[in-house]
Amino acid sequence: MGNVILIGFMGTGKSTIGKALAATCHLTHLDLDTYLEEQEGCAIADVFREKGESYFRDRESALLKEVLQRSGQVISTGGGVVLRQENREIMLQKGLVISLHADVAEIVRRVSSEPHRPLLAGNPAERVQALFRERAGLYDFAPVHIDTTGKSVDQIVKEIEAAMVEEHSFRGE
Ligand code: S3P
Repeated sequence: MGNVILIGFMGTGKSTIGKALAATCHLTHLDLDTYLEEQEGCAIADVFREKGESYFRDRESALLKEVLQRSGQVISTGGGVVLRQENREIMLQKGLVISLHADVAEIVRRVSSEPHRPLLAGNPAERVQALFRERAGLYDFAPVHIDTTGKSVDQIVKEIEAAMVEEHSFRGE
């Protein structure tokens, strides 16, 4: 068995859902942002501030590659992991990529209560709208798409489990 890899824009629930899904499926949960913070010894906002976004993207790609050498994990990625083609390719090779979606209004609501994201500093609502447009289409490569808007964690986990079963039987695994 490979991995289940959750992608999606900031605030679509990748970390929360990843943790719940891993517990339900008895798989290991790995949050790529948390792993990067552990490796760097500081918060992502500090990495952006002190070393810049391109350093962050290099570390993100390197750690993604490293963790995908293992299998049997649910991996929650950061919203920008889809920016690099090499990342998109390795994710498709090493797991079932599931894209989580939410309405822009719900994303703004969710991220406004969590002020730790460097790319949303200033005016989170405006930044979300701008980045959302900039990244349109970048999550489309995933074979599975789940809308999380207005749904409970339990409901979303059930939908993902159903998609996992469907994908496995489709692939003949
Ligand atoms: C980012 C999303 C963040 C984090 C970093 C950059 C992005 O993760 O990786 O702040 O470029 O979308 P979340 O999607 O978990 O907020």
